[in-house]
Amino acid sequence: MTVLVFLDPAYDDGRIADASVPQLMATDLGATRGDGIFESLLALNGEARKVQAHLDRLGSSALALNLALPSQDAWRRAIATALDAYAATTAGPADAELAVKLLVTRGVEGADAPTAWVQVAPVPARTQRQRREGLSVLLLDRGYDSTVAQRAPWLLMGAKSLSYAVNMAAVRYAQAHGADDVIFTSSDGKVLEGPTSTVLLARVRDGVKTLLTPQLESGILPGTSQSALFSVAKAAGWDLGYGPLVPADLFDADGVWLISSIRLLAPVNSLAGRQIAPAAGLTAELTELVAKIS
Ligand SMILES: Cc1ncc(COP(=O)(O)O)c(C=O)c1O
Repeated sequence: MTVLVFLDPAYDDGRIADASVPQLMATDLGATRGDGIFESLLALNGEARKVQAHLDRLGSSALALNLALPSQDAWRRAIATALDAYAATTAGPADAELAVKLLVTRGVEGADAPTAWVQVAPVPARTQRQRREGLSVLLLDRGYDSTVAQRAPWLLMGAKSLSYAVNMAAVRYAQAHGADDVIFTSSDGKVLEGPTSTVLLARVRDGVKTLLTPQLESGILPGTSQSALFSVAKAAGWDLGYGPLVPADLFDADGVWLISSIRLLAPVNSLAGRQIAPAAGLTAELTELVAKIS
């Protein structure tokens, strides 16, 4: 079951559209060039989480691509319309967790008007399973060095652009080699991010727990989940740190996780074929903190 709501200036709260029939023009630049941006957020029991952080990042991505965006209010109304429409059509515990996508393309060629819509669908069972059971992860070279984002802003490294074919190819490569997911490294050997997630590691020294993540300047997407988790973890007494991190830091860590808005916190069980320190206690503690994020 998928619900679509288009942000259409003729409809204050968005226009509900039938997801079972075509809704996009074949000449939409999102389809022909992957020219657009998106956000994925989680809705729990009808309530979308971290909406402001996602709308703010959508705004930063739009700036990077020089795309015109509907207002944040229009997005909020369209999200509410989509969640209401979903709730009206189904019921049951399987629908308690929904993936809400916000999508914007540069629009139909020559029209100079973006196409924008909200999509709501259940969180896939496999995503929920990975959250519970953890991941086997490969380290893959992204092919850029860790200073490329500053030198080459046209690569849109810190934007959540629709051009995710490379990210999806990396996940398929991992699956073809018996793994579930990927941590990208830079050509100068720094730990970057997953294709759809932020990397976290924990160090526990003399009773002091530190949560670390790669530094943003290395050309990664600023994760809304990592940022929100850092806030609640700080309040709970954790120390925080930002890279640069190298693969040896992952192997030496007391726990490694991938975190993102839909899958939430997923423990890394093995990395590049080597077991990672099991961290059931830290995973339980961090999962509890993640549950506090709203
Ligand atoms: C490349 C990349 N990095 C990190 C993340 C995690 O971001 P967030 O926590 O905001 O979902 C995502 C999310 O999809 C992503 O695509």
